Amino acid sequence: MTTETKQTDGAGAATANDTLTVTDNRTGKQYEIPIEDETIRATELRKIKVHEIDQLAEESTYLEVAYLLVHGNLPSQKELDEWVHEITIHTFVHENVKEFMQGFRYDAHPMGILLASVGALSTFYPEAAAIKDEDIRYLQIIRLIAKMPTLAAFSYRHNRGMPYVYPDNDLSYPGNFLSMIYKVAELKYEPDPRLERALDILFILHADHEQNCSTSAVRSVGSSQVDPYSAVAAGVAALYGPLHGGANEQVLKMLRRIETKENIPDFIKGVKQGDEKLMGFGHRVYKNYDPRAKIIRKHAYEVFEVTGTNPLLDIAIDLEKIALEDDYFIDRKLYPNVDFYSGIIYEALGMPVEMFPVLFAIGRTSGWIAQWLEMIDDKEQKIARPRQIYTGERGREYVPVGERS
Ligand code: SDX
Repeated sequence: MTTETKQTDGAGAATANDTLTVTDNRTGKQYEIPIEDETIRATELRKIKVHEIDQLAEESTYLEVAYLLVHGNLPSQKELDEWVHEITIHTFVHENVKEFMQGFRYDAHPMGILLASVGALSTFYPEAAAIKDEDIRYLQIIRLIAKMPTLAAFSYRHNRGMPYVYPDNDLSYPGNFLSMIYKVAELKYEPDPRLERALDILFILHADHEQNCSTSAVRSVGSSQVDPYSAVAAGVAALYGPLHGGANEQVLKMLRRIETKENIPDFIKGVKQGDEKLMGFGHRVYKNYDPRAKIIRKHAYEVFEVTGTNPLLDIAIDLEKIALEDDYFIDRKLYPNVDFYSGIIYEALGMPVEMFPVLFAIGRTSGWIAQWLEMIDDKEQKIARPRQIYTGERGREYVPVGERS
């Protein structure tokens, strides 16, 4: 590995050896980390990776990545076959879940239905409360990964007033989801392999992402030792928000508001005046290009080859170009994030915008579960209980209601 190294002489200027060489024994890779002020930046350690996300996106499948997240290593072929089989035979939900869903308004947002349905699963599998029993826990993990697409598709079909399509166990994980969404009168839905692959890659890229808002919600709620369905339902609730998982839905609503390419300059002016945000841009952590966005961007153009673009997607492509060259966004380190491109791919796939955060939830389920498992098995784990500093008024006497102004 060739790296430029810096040296500091006696006067403190950089010398060739002011670096720390770290060897990751899992991969044998070496990393040169600069030493500044007798220490290193913790963020430099983020360079140490076992699996690069772009390798997983290009080489793996979502269920294989889900196995990696849950077990901590990639499966052997036998382990993968068993994992896929277990998930495939748990894709159905109890018929009462369908009746539960019928209680929602005809136009209920699918994310609201998903949120409630995932939580409701805790009542169908009360044994899930035994979170320390590894066998019971494992079965709930299989059920969550297996049933999330089914609940998601049922919530979409309810929203569209269409009959529910049951899982087709002959299809792949993404293919089965497309079938449950799009199948109408044909005897068997045949997914386009290019769209199936694009969806699988989107699930991989959304699988896990450190302590983001929804994962922190799963960990916090899960720390009360509630069952995993209730903890994951908290993650779905957080992901519903427009600044998090709801961002890709807001991207398409923003593109619709812009309406034509000619309106882009005025829209950008409005963003700079603080009238609104450029949805799908910016990140709490990434102050440069989100590596996932680069991968998704490449696949977006491959999907467009299949689906063709439309005026909205053409606006998105122009918006991306303008924002990447505009100092306002460059100075604020606002780059397109994963939601910008996932939104336009789902649009190209013909997904209704309400389903965008639902698709995000399907992919993120394996990450939520892996983080929940890590938290549950952490011997030092206690219930989440942030402290607060009281900054209100002190020493106020109680005033009877009749004497209050
Ligand atoms: C996800 O945490 C994760 O990992 C999340 C996620 C995951 O995988 O789980 O990556 C998925 O949630 C991605 C983010 C999706 N959200 C959006 O695309 C919504 C639009 N973006 C934002 O609202 C915003 O960028 C956030 C919420 C993502 C980040 O907000 P921050 O941390 O407040 O942004 P910042 O501190 O970097 O902002 C710096 C400046 C501020 O302006 P000034 O006060 O300096 O003038 O940039 C402004 C912000 O107001 N700004 C934006 C902007 N995002 C930040 N201005 C216009 N458009 C935007 N999108």
